[in-house]
Amino acid sequence: MLWSDCLPPRLREELRLHQHNRDNRRGKVSKYAQTWFQIKDVFPQAIFSKLIVSLERLPHLTRNEGAWRSGSAIDGRTLMASQSRSPLLYLMSDEFASRVREETGIILTMVPEADVNRLSLLYYSGDPERDNRVTARTRPDGCGWHVDGNIYLGQRWAGILTLREDTTDIESKLELKPHGETKLIPRQGLENSLILFQGDHVSHRVRDMVSGEQRVVLSLLMSDNPTVTWNPWLRHYQRRVNRMFYGL
Ligand SMILES: [Fe+2]
Repeated sequence: MLWSDCLPPRLREELRLHQHNRDNRRGKVSKYAQTWFQIKDVFPQAIFSKLIVSLERLPHLTRNEGAWRSGSAIDGRTLMASQSRSPLLYLMSDEFASRVREETGIILTMVPEADVNRLSLLYYSGDPERDNRVTARTRPDGCGWHVDGNIYLGQRWAGILTLREDTTDIESKLELKPHGETKLIPRQGLENSLILFQGDHVSHRVRDMVSGEQRVVLSLLMSDNPTVTWNPWLRHYQRRVNRMFYGL
């Protein structure tokens, strides 16, 4: 019997999550959490078209021109207060939840609204000045191989819903490495599809863009138990990540 078996269930869960994040930082992930899914035609076509039109009218926010990458991000609260609210509500519908359950066999719900990672819009583009060596700036547009942290007691499922990926590559800029093997995802058929994976177990990256290329995605965060940890260090870590990514 382990000493932790004597703890109340909630504290056992907290301890398990703490150990998971510690292992995660050391590059140790579970071989049982390497599954990923691609769900095609997520939005009904009429809603998808409405969403694209509404996003084109959004002011181009670049407030997160931070150290990690040169693209921009719009957090879910800002998005839901914009004209994109109506089409985006589809992602909170029973119809969408059922579709995810049918495709994955797992009952997943969006994480609480208080978490800016619940839903956000990410914009990636090449930097012509850097490509033409006008500037020595080396800040990448993508992000290198990494696994995410997890602040939820349940599984952390990251979803990347591609709205548009205009590049010269045959494969998506998003790459996953389940079981340590790089998985290239064809760019054809990527629009309006959702790549769903456990981001705290499956290593992933976004390759750099070159000048003229553009990529616009919705980032979703789902869980089978979206209960936020009591652990103040983990919560602090998440706030720091949010500040760097969204300027919040
Ligand atoms: Fe990530």
